[in-house]
Amino acid sequence: MIRTIIDCDTGIDDSVAILFALRRPEIHVEGITTGCGNTSVDQATDNVLRLLKLAELSYEIPVAKGAGQPLEGTWDGPVVRVHGPNGIGGVELPSSEQCPLDEPASDFIVRMARENPGELTVITLGRMTNLALALQKEPMLPKLVKNVVSMGGVIYGAGNTSPVAEANIAGDPEAADQVIMAGFDLTMVGLDVTMKTRITRQRLEFLRAHCSASNRRVVDYLHGVLEYYLGYYRTQDFAFDHCPVHDPLAVLVAIDPGLVSLKKLPTRIECGGQYCRGKVVVDERPHHFDAPFVTHCLAVAGDRAAEELLSTFM
Ligand code: BDR
Ligand code: CA
Repeated sequence: MIRTIIDCDTGIDDSVAILFALRRPEIHVEGITTGCGNTSVDQATDNVLRLLKLAELSYEIPVAKGAGQPLEGTWDGPVVRVHGPNGIGGVELPSSEQCPLDEPASDFIVRMARENPGELTVITLGRMTNLALALQKEPMLPKLVKNVVSMGGVIYGAGNTSPVAEANIAGDPEAADQVIMAGFDLTMVGLDVTMKTRITRQRLEFLRAHCSASNRRVVDYLHGVLEYYLGYYRTQDFAFDHCPVHDPLAVLVAIDPGLVSLKKLPTRIECGGQYCRGKVVVDERPHHFDAPFVTHCLAVAGDRAAEELLSTFM
């Protein structure tokens, strides 16, 4: 059983990842923490609470609100063209009676790690700000958590917020670099693999036509948000009726690392520069620079991953 804290900036694909994790028997979600990114931290938190209500669980999952700004600089504002006016494609979910904890996300991560040493997998689906803040409060955190799986970065492919940088890393490069330097057992699930894992409209329609009654409301939600997402990728990437699987792939890799080819490489994040800020820098020279080894996903069984994702909602 993977006991996890999911840290997210909910976000269309974050929401799909959360619902997927909640539906998987191999995972127990111990808490969800939120930050700014795709949308404001308040909106991200409200979205998580609404998603938990939609999932109709028999137990309550604590939700802790986190950083509203990156470690340095300021948040750029919501990415409406990708994630809609409310972060979840304009889909209106019923509000929840559940309130977020009084505890900030970074405190929650530290407390949970201390209470469950060596047990927790932290899955980050947004900027690594909350994890970096938690690390500042508890420098032993890399020893207290089992591992970290992060959607973020790109090694060999193109970036998505600049020619070389991916949004979650570019949104807070200092946080990502601090997390890397701390020496977590860290796996980065970047655009090299998420762009090669695609949800197609055809598969979505099949799911909609054949899902069980118990999944109907969740599948209707997926259909609504992914309709928005497909529209963005159609105009942005000339992707005709298919879209990448970013955040859910991090959850899939946490469950089944066999879906990807992994390589450990000495890694830093470029925190300066006009064109390269937020780039993941790996050193493949035999005499490499002095940096912690991070596990990167370089290839993926994309069809299998996408089918595993969608069939979970049948
Ligand atoms: C990442 O950026 C956000 O838009 C997505 O939610 C995902 O976490 C992809 O670059
Ligand atoms: Ca995200």
